[in-house]
Amino acid sequence: MYTLSKPTLNDIKELLKIENECFTYDRLGYYHFYYQIQQRQIFIVSNLKEIMGYISIRFRKNYVYIASLAIKKRYRKKGIASFMLATLEKSYPIMKLDCKRHNINFYHKLGYKQVCIKYDYYTDGEDAITMEKDITCQKAGQD
Ligand SMILES: CC(C)(COP(=O)(O)OP(=O)(O)OC[C@H]1O[C@@H](n2cnc3c(N)ncnc32)[C@H](O)[C@@H]1OP(=O)(O)O)[C@@H](O)C(=O)NCCC(=O)NCCS
Repeated sequence: MYTLSKPTLNDIKELLKIENECFTYDRLGYYHFYYQIQQRQIFIVSNLKEIMGYISIRFRKNYVYIASLAIKKRYRKKGIASFMLATLEKSYPIMKLDCKRHNINFYHKLGYKQVCIKYDYYTDGEDAITMEKDITCQKAGQD
């Protein structure tokens, strides 16, 4: 059993731990989380014991950009990231993000489409794949 909620500034320490566990490159720092919490642009997923992961977003004019998404290793492959995305997609029907190649299939499974490649995007030299899901478009196509 887990729930999605907005973190408080008291959660930053735990968010930084998750960041260190989940990423070896381009890690987000204290001020990212501080700013995102103040802006109410970050959600955590928690069970009764702890924060299991987070999603950090940015509100753009016509869509929501996913700045980061991470789930602690011991909670992965249980549908938790999918649950977070599905919950946000109900409020924000157009979502975009950049990801590494090894995560493309994760987003494909959830209906995201590849829209472009940004070469040498990450500090470790890997490319970023820009992915997008536009639920308004999908609905129009199904009619
Ligand atoms: C990517 C990540 C957020 C996925 O979280 P998760 O909670 O394990 O994802 P889910 O359980 O909702 O996975 C949904 C499906 O995608 C699959 N999947 C998960 N991660 C995958 C990956 N990296 N590549 C391909 N498929 C993946 C799952 O097996 C599952 O498939 P199924 O429905 O057939 O069982 C998590 O692995 C993570 O935190 N990784 C490290 C940080 C990271 O890379 N974040 C993404 C930045 S863009």
